[in-house]
Amino acid sequence: MRKIGILTSGGDSSGMNAAIRAAVRTAVSGGMEVVGFRKGFQGLINCDYMEMGTMTVAGILQHGGTILHSVRCKEFMYEPGQQAALKSLETLGVEGLIVIGGDGSLKGAMALDSLGFPVIGIPASIDNDIAFTDMSLGVDTAMNNIVYAVDCIKDTASSHERTFVIEVMGRNCGYLASTTAIAVGAEFTIVPETPFDTSEICRRLQTRYREGRNDAIIIVAEGAATAREIADKIEGCIGFETRVTVLGHYQRGGAPSVFDRLLGSRFGKRAVEMLVAGEHGKMVGLCGRSIKATPLSEVAASVRVPDPEMLGMAEVLGI
Ligand code: F6P
Repeated sequence: MRKIGILTSGGDSSGMNAAIRAAVRTAVSGGMEVVGFRKGFQGLINCDYMEMGTMTVAGILQHGGTILHSVRCKEFMYEPGQQAALKSLETLGVEGLIVIGGDGSLKGAMALDSLGFPVIGIPASIDNDIAFTDMSLGVDTAMNNIVYAVDCIKDTASSHERTFVIEVMGRNCGYLASTTAIAVGAEFTIVPETPFDTSEICRRLQTRYREGRNDAIIIVAEGAATAREIADKIEGCIGFETRVTVLGHYQRGGAPSVFDRLLGSRFGKRAVEMLVAGEHGKMVGLCGRSIKATPLSEVAASVRVPDPEMLGMAEVLGI
């Protein structure tokens, strides 16, 4: 392998830069050239690229987002877009590609690989909904962001004796909500994986208030309901002040945690090593403490759901 390409696609997540840096430096130290495509698959289609060397990736490790920028590219979902991408790769003499992104991006990676172009995928999405990896890039940083924000909100909740309904991201997955609910000591957790009953939440809130416990934190995953919907339902019923906070894109950015810097570095290095070894059509993933590879076809056919034990624990510890 003499020349590899790299791109980031879909929603950005902290640690993507660490993966880019590690891939570039591993490739360069192996005597290879690297090109980075801007704005994900769109850059591949438009042949919008930059030559990447050791200096291009200097000073990026500690920054969130992605220096290659990212979009969700609909054009690449169809054959003409994929053929245009293949043409760009051929024109530039690229022999292998690393795709860093979430489930949709990894499906794009699989499509390109099945057209005969060697691709390795790196899972990066704060949702942690990608199968065959314990953690995707950016999840740990997002959890830390959420915990920091909710700790701040708890000060006001307790000072003003209020209930806060806090909405966190995760698309259709309750991983971020259930893990951070445990970490902040939330009273209630609402996730898409478990049915919830707002009248039961109201009943328990009223009991708490009667016991003199005058504030509460409710973490709601965006895939289950909006914080506004939950707040509207409970406010009228409990008769106490309720406030809503939607954490939004604050969760996705910021300096990557040590965990995400290490994970990104390990994923980036291994992805290059695999291409060099002739392996392709696979995604690198964290399994326990090891980095393992899984065929992209298996990844695409599965969905990672939060551990039921974590969901149960969030409920029990909130009592
Ligand atoms: O998939 C990552 C994610 O942050 C989801 O949690 C969220 O639903 C979505 O992306 C938001 O997408 P956008 O940045 O396009 O608004």
